[in-house]
Amino acid sequence: MLIQRIETDELVVGLYETYMAGMADVPAPLWQQPRFGAQVTEGSPGSRVEAWAVVEDGRVVAGYGLGFPHYDNPHLAGLFPLVVHPERRRRGLGTALLDHAVGRAREEGRTLLLGDTPVTGPGAAFAAARGWTVTVKEARRVLDLGKADWDGLARMTPGIDGYLLERWTGPAGEDLLPVLAATLDGMNDAPRDVGVEPARLPLERVRAGEERMPRAGEDCYNILARRASDGAPAGITRVFLDADRSTRWGYQGDTTVLKEHRGHRLGLALKLATLFWLREREPQIDRIVTWNAVSNRHMLAINEAMGYELLDEWHEWRLPL
Ligand SMILES: CC(C)(COP(=O)(O)OP(=O)(O)OC[C@H]1O[C@@H](n2cnc3c(N)ncnc32)[C@H](O)[C@@H]1OP(=O)(O)O)[C@@H](O)C(=O)NCCC(=O)NCCS
Repeated sequence: MLIQRIETDELVVGLYETYMAGMADVPAPLWQQPRFGAQVTEGSPGSRVEAWAVVEDGRVVAGYGLGFPHYDNPHLAGLFPLVVHPERRRRGLGTALLDHAVGRAREEGRTLLLGDTPVTGPGAAFAAARGWTVTVKEARRVLDLGKADWDGLARMTPGIDGYLLERWTGPAGEDLLPVLAATLDGMNDAPRDVGVEPARLPLERVRAGEERMPRAGEDCYNILARRASDGAPAGITRVFLDADRSTRWGYQGDTTVLKEHRGHRLGLALKLATLFWLREREPQIDRIVTWNAVSNRHMLAINEAMGYELLDEWHEWRLPL
């Protein structure tokens, strides 16, 4: 079997089609092609990536992407995706690709591999069979904006004396990069695998993430909380939309309140403000999905108070190399 490096757009599209077929039972829209393409050709901001495929009869039937962080976590490699077309499963292709990925990770000096799967189904069965263990337990929750109790949400909106909310859409401009770096650093307080170091966020990394958005087909609604007295950044939430809006879903990401500003209900205020803003500016968006570690009780309490309902559960898996 030939496992070949993905270096052409045609193979990226082939891997995307296999990924769409392979994940068809996941209950939410999958990544659009531009986002997937950016992930397997450019990688996450702060990671270098490579992707590999098995091609049979001119068609990608399986493949994987492997990311290597370079600002932090030089011992880590992230597998996304690892996928085998449903028609070609249980013939050892997944195992061959995983062995190849492990070999590549070792060659790069990496000692820990991480990946995600839904808690049940072939991915989880495969990971368990291949010696991975579960690390972080995660869940996605969804809010149906058509059924949301908007009056209730308005009543729930807390006063946030001493803080101001600032909004922008799209990638952050140069002037906002320092506050973005400071607030995104709060994501380091979210639960993570014991072997993962905090993310380092130099401005060049944050800038690269913002500059990637149009190439990844993403739009972004951002709300930042600042302390009114001195403008210090206190928290942020972001909702990513597919630039073509075809899925009508919004993806909440990066909600964080920095330690010294916790306890003022800023998390709830930020999330509610985003909902009302989206309702006004993007009435075609009908669902917001949010992704949390199951152990992140504060965030879950906020989401449940707002009416988010469980969509599905995921596991992050680890494989020491
Ligand atoms: C996970 C996936 C890549 C496995 O590909 P595959 O080519 O079928 O894997 P293999 O044939 O090498 O399977 C190896 C072992 O994993 C286990 N396994 C794989 N699929 C399984 C399933 N559906 N049910 C139970 N065990 C399964 C078995 O022990 C299997 O060995 P066996 O066939 O001798 O019993 C494929 O199912 C897939 O693309 N799933 C969707 C994407 C995904 O979840 N990726 C995982 C990211 S880590």
